[in-house]
Order: sequence, then structure tokens, then C-alpha cells
Amino acid sequence: MDDINYEQHAGNGYLNQPLSYDPEMAEVTQGTPMGELLRRYWHPIGLVSHATETPRKVRALGEDLILFRDLQGRPGLVHANCCHRGTTLYYGKVDQDGLRCCYHGWAFDVEGRCTSQPCEPEGGRGRQKIRQPWYPLKEHYGLIFAYMGPPDRMPMFTKYECLEVLEVDEALEANDTSIGSGGPVIVDCNWLQHYENVVDPYHVPILHGSFSGTQFTEQMGSMPHVEFEQVELGIKVTSLRPLDGNRTHRRITMAVLPTLRVVPSPRVSEFARVSSIGWVLPIDNTSFRIYTCGRIREEGTMADGRSRLNGKLWEELTAEEHQKYPGDYEAHSGQGAIAVHANEHLGQSDAGIVMLRRFLKNQVDTVAAGGNPVGVSFNKDDLPIIFEAGNYTLDEPYDR
Ligand code: FES
Ligand SMILES: [Fe+2]
Repeated sequence: MDDINYEQHAGNGYLNQPLSYDPEMAEVTQGTPMGELLRRYWHPIGLVSHATETPRKVRALGEDLILFRDLQGRPGLVHANCCHRGTTLYYGKVDQDGLRCCYHGWAFDVEGRCTSQPCEPEGGRGRQKIRQPWYPLKEHYGLIFAYMGPPDRMPMFTKYECLEVLEVDEALEANDTSIGSGGPVIVDCNWLQHYENVVDPYHVPILHGSFSGTQFTEQMGSMPHVEFEQVELGIKVTSLRPLDGNRTHRRITMAVLPTLRVVPSPRVSEFARVSSIGWVLPIDNTSFRIYTCGRIREEGTMADGRSRLNGKLWEELTAEEHQKYPGDYEAHSGQGAIAVHANEHLGQSDAGIVMLRRFLKNQVDTVAAGGNPVGVSFNKDDLPIIFEAGNYTLDEPYDR
């Protein structure tokens, strides 16, 4: 063994067993650092149309919940398991005042107050003390947002200018199919793998521009000159590319807290300000989904923005085609259920990832120290947030 040639064996698999992921960044359940950061914001948990008199299962940030709408029209979101003896409220019945458990008939209003205990003497003398765990909701942008954090830190609901100010021929459309994931509605890997992709413009000419054919415009297939910048609410990525006639294409995408993808259409080669926002909802540590709201014109729908590979939508591809024409889903889920961060080799082109992680870590630390993270506001007079994201044409030659 003395004469082993270490140079020759460098990188040998036996000597390089996988390390682990970074729990501080990846885990989202209550009490974890990232879970507590995320719980300081409002997150979409369904479409407005999902809250009906038929209870609906929702899983968010590792918690099983039931969404419903009482017959007065108020939406409610409660823990799935009844606080009496724990059966699921999925089998409950909705009435004028709330949701009634199938097992012994305890009923709860949209704020979890127990309004009836039919098996108890006098309909439940102590029921005033009982609350089914519940979360505050807000309906906006065609979506239902929940605040799952500490009640004394509940911020104002954040509005965004790109969804508040519409042209006369535009309307808003909400979508729950994980547009932008490049794959199924529920993606079977950690949310951060997708979120980091928003600040990874170098994969565009490879994965989307050449490896699997051209998914976006031709121009998106060229290697951009990229600038990363930390801004107040997240990371801004500027990609510059040459255009005909001494002009330059400037594309700005942003990853904004808590989980927003502010990504202009990659299929537009001329000017367009960002027209949609995607909220990446961590379902739990190893799955996520994306809710989107965007401005559409009469002739289009949000679903028109879905990628095609080999001319087909993701679900239409055969197993062979998935291997031959991978997209974002294949790349992100291919990193594993949770990417093994300790085994990565980050390069210069990963500067955006490094910046995003550092930014998130700062916010995690702020929350852990008792502070409020960026973008959280308690001022009801705040104006909608304006994003710089979009595709722009500069009348100046590309000289990078
Ligand atoms: S378990 Fe729900 S009422 Fe008994
Ligand atoms: Fe991508």
C-alpha cells in the first residue's frame, strides 16, 4: 500500500462518498431556519376557485391542511387533522358557519373556533376554549395566499405593480400548473433547486439553446454577458446579447423573497416588461409547485408559455425523449431529492447562486436574531413593488 499513486486515484468514487445537503437552506418545516424565514411571508396555496364547499387537501411547508369555503363565502384553511381525535377534515361537510368533522361532528369556523360538539352535554360547554389550528388567508391575483408564520409578525399583503397596472386589452390569469418548472405540476425535488435556477442564466444557451434543441428564441441560444447584483429584495440578473443593427438585447430576471420568480418571457426578442410572477411553493423538503399570475391578452392564456421539447409538451414525451431532450425538470430533479451541496464545485458562472445563498443566509440569520426579513412591511400605505425585470432593446452596440 506504500507505493499508492494518489494522483492516479484522485476522485476515486470509494474515496469520495457523497456528503450531505445544507439543511439550513433546504428544509422548510416549522422550526427550521429556512422554514421560519419563509413563514414570515404570504404564500399562495391555491387558486381562488379551489376554496369551495368541498374540502380540498393542501400541503404547504411540510404541513397537511384543508382548504374550504363556508356558505357565507369565506375561505378557510385549517390543519387537516381534527383537534378532537385526529381524523382528517377532508371528509368533513361545509355549512353556513364552517366545516364539520365526519367523525363526531365537531364544527369549526374559518378561524378554527369550535362552534358545535353534538356528542357533548349541551352541545359542548367547553367548546369556546377549543380552536382547530387555522391560518389567515387573503384572496388576490386569482390566488389564495396564506400566512403561516407567528401571528404577531403577520405582514401586510404585498402587491406588485406588474400585476396591478394593466393595459386596456389585458386581463390577469392565475395558473396552478407549475409553469416554468419544465415538468409536472408537483416537482419531486427541493424547491431551492428550482429557485436557484432563476439566477443561473448560463444554463440557458446550453440546456435550452442547444443541448435539447432550441426551446426559446434563437437569440437566447448565444452565451450572454452576465451581471449579477444584489438588490433590496433579492438577486437581479442582467444578461446582454448582441442584436442586429448595432443594438443590444438586455434581459433582466430576478429572484425575489420569499420565493418569487420574476422572469420575463424567454420567447420575446424585443421589448416587454415582465408580465407574470411565479411563486415557488415548497410543499415539503422534497417537493414543490409553482403558482403563477400573469397579464394575458384576449388571444392568449398563461399555458401558452409552456416549453416544448422536440415539439411536444413535457407530459407528451416518451421516456426516450425525456432522456434525449432534457429540460429544467430533468436537470433539477436530476440533482436529487435534495441536491448534495457539500459535493458541488461552484465556478465563476455560479456567482448568482453564491449571491442568492448568501442573501438567504443573511435573511435566515435576521429572523433567527428576532428581526424582520426584507420585504416584510407592516405599513398599509405601501405602494405596489415595481420590478425592473423585462426584455429591453438598447440602441447601442454590444461591446463585451
Ligand atoms: S375526530 Fe373530529 S369530531 Fe371526533
Ligand atoms: Fe431553465
